[in-house]
Amino acid sequence: MCGIIAYTGERSAGPILLDGLRHLEYRGYDSAGIALQVEGPGLHVERATGKIEGLVRRVEGRLPEATSGVGHTRWATHGEPSERNAHPLTDPERRVALVHNGIVENHEELRAALGDGQTFASDTDTEVLAHLIGRELARGVDALEAVRCAVGRARGAFSLVAMPRDEPGRLIAARVGHAGGIVVGHGEGERLLASDLGALLPHTRRVTFLEPGELADVRAERVCYVDSAGAAVEKAVEEQAVSAVALGKGRHRHFLAKELHEQPDAVLDVLRGRYLSDPFRVELEGFPLDEEGARALRRVVLVGMGTSLLACSVGRHYVERFARLPAEVDNASEFRYRRPVLDPGTLVISVSQSGETADTLAAMEEARAAGCPQLTVCNTPGAQATRVADGTVFLRAGPEISVASTKCLTSSITALHAIALHLGRLTGRLPEELAAEQVRAALHLPAAVGEALELEPQVAGIAERYARFQNFLFLGRGLSYPMAMEGALKLKELAYIHAEGYPAGEMKHGPIALVDESVPTVAIALRDEVFEKMRSNIEQLRARRGPVIAVVSHGDRSLDGVVEELVELPAVHPLLSPVVSAVPLQLLAYHIALERGADVDQPRNLAKTVTVE
Ligand code: AGP
Repeated sequence: MCGIIAYTGERSAGPILLDGLRHLEYRGYDSAGIALQVEGPGLHVERATGKIEGLVRRVEGRLPEATSGVGHTRWATHGEPSERNAHPLTDPERRVALVHNGIVENHEELRAALGDGQTFASDTDTEVLAHLIGRELARGVDALEAVRCAVGRARGAFSLVAMPRDEPGRLIAARVGHAGGIVVGHGEGERLLASDLGALLPHTRRVTFLEPGELADVRAERVCYVDSAGAAVEKAVEEQAVSAVALGKGRHRHFLAKELHEQPDAVLDVLRGRYLSDPFRVELEGFPLDEEGARALRRVVLVGMGTSLLACSVGRHYVERFARLPAEVDNASEFRYRRPVLDPGTLVISVSQSGETADTLAAMEEARAAGCPQLTVCNTPGAQATRVADGTVFLRAGPEISVASTKCLTSSITALHAIALHLGRLTGRLPEELAAEQVRAALHLPAAVGEALELEPQVAGIAERYARFQNFLFLGRGLSYPMAMEGALKLKELAYIHAEGYPAGEMKHGPIALVDESVPTVAIALRDEVFEKMRSNIEQLRARRGPVIAVVSHGDRSLDGVVEELVELPAVHPLLSPVVSAVPLQLLAYHIALERGADVDQPRNLAKTVTVE
C-alpha cells in the first residue's frame, strides 16, 4: 500500500505531515515526499527515495512555513522506486500537487488522450491524473469539479488527495473503487486526511470515512462531500474508540470483517511492483531460479494445509497453463509421510500464511533433504518457512488476526498467479500475448474484488434464510472446485455447520444420495467450458428438491428461476475468477456465523497457526 497524509488548519503543516508519514511507513517506503502550500511560488515540493528519515534529513531546518500540505510514502506499482516517481506529483504548470494510492488501469489510454505535446516528468500512472486536473484548473473549472472530472475518466481502484495551488488551505480527496481508503479527520480549527485511522488519531478521534465513488472538499473550517455525479452527500462524523483493539478492527465488528474488506488493498499489494506494463510482464524479487534453473525443472509440487492448500490447488492450474510444467498438489501432512519421489528437477512451492505450520514445514524439510529447489508463499517476515525455502514471495497482506483466513487466501492465489507467469517467462513457454492478457487482467483485480464486496447485503440476506440448515454441499469444476472446497471450509470453521466441497462431476458417484430439501448446495457455475455440465448438475439437484445457491458470472442470468438464489460476480478474467468468487463464499460463512451467534474471530477448537501435528 502507499500512505497518504494531508493537513489544513492553523498549525505548521510540515512537521505534521512528516510525523504522519512515520505512522504510515509500514505501508511502504520506496520513496516519500511532501508538498506545502506557500506564499509566492504556491507549491513547495520535497521528495526523496528510501525511508521517511531520508526525507526528514533532506528538509531538516529548511521547510518553508505553511498551514496546508500533502504527504505520501510510496510502494511502487507503476514506475520504479526513484525520486522522479515519488509523490507528490504535479501537472506541468504546477497548478496542483497530487498524492495517490492504488492503480489507474487505463493510464496509458489517458496519456495518449492528453496528446503528444504533453511532457511527463515520471513513469507513474498517477501523473496522468495531475495533468487532467491541471488542465481543468487552467480552464477555470472549480477544483472539486476538476478532480471529479479527472477521476471520472479513470478506471481502477484508488484514492487521492489534490492540493490546488491557487486556493490556499483547500484539499480535494477522492476515492474510486474499494482499494485504498481515505479518512477525514475533524480537529479544532483544522482538518486532516489519511489512508488510515492510525495517522489521524494523534490529532483527532472524530473521523469520516470516504466510501467508493465519493469526493471530499476539505478546508479547515468546513468540509462537504459529493458523489461521482457531483450530487451532495451527507456524511456523519464518527467518534473512534482509541483502544488498540478498536484501532486494529478499524470500523468493523470483527477482525474477520476487517480483513475480508481489506482484500482489494491486499491483492493490490501482491501486484505492486511485480505486475509491470511496458512491456507487460511479471518480475518477482527473491525467486530462487534463474532461466537456466527454470528450464532444468521437470515438475512442480505445491504443498500446504487448509485454506493454503486450496490456494495451491488453484496455483497448480496456473503453473500448468503458463509454465507448461506438470504440477501436483499435496496435503503437506500426507506428503511428509508418503516417501514422495523427489529430485532437484522438482520445484517445491509451499504456501503458508504463518510460515509456521508444522506439517508444511515438515514437507519442506522432506523436499530439502531431496535437494529440491524451494519457493514459499508467506505472509510473515522472518517465519520459519522463509528460512527453509530458497526464496520467498511475501503476501504483504499485513497481520491476519482472525483464525479463518480470508485476505491471505486471495493474496496467495494472486501470488501463485505471479509465480506461474514469472516461471513461464523463465522457461520461455509463456506466449507474450498471454502474459500481457494476464497482467492486464490482474491489474483489474483490486477493483473486481472491491465490487464483489458490494454483494454483502445480498449475501447477508441469503445467510438469514439459510442459517438454519445443518448440512451444505459446495460444488465447482476446474478452478472453481478448490473454491467450493474453500467455501465449505469457511462454513465449517466459522458457523460449525457440516459442509462438504466436491468436484461437481463427483455427485453421481455417491454424494447426490445426500440431497433433499434439507441440504442446500452452493454451486459455483461460471461461464467456462464446463458451464453446461454445471447447469446439468444443478438441474439434478433441483430434481431432488435440493435448494441451490448459484454463484455465476457477471451478466449471466440464465439460471434465474432455476435456482433459489443467484449471486452474480463482477466481471473478471476466467483464470482469475477464484480471487473474486472467494468473496461471496467468505461473506456467506461470515453472515451465517453471525446469524448463529458463533465466535467469528476465534472459532471453537481452532488456532490461527497449527504448529503441532
Ligand atoms: C484457514 O481458514 C484455516 N484457519 C486454516 O485452514 C489455515 O489455512 C491452515 O492452518 C494453514 O495455515 P498457514 O497458511 O498459516 O500455513
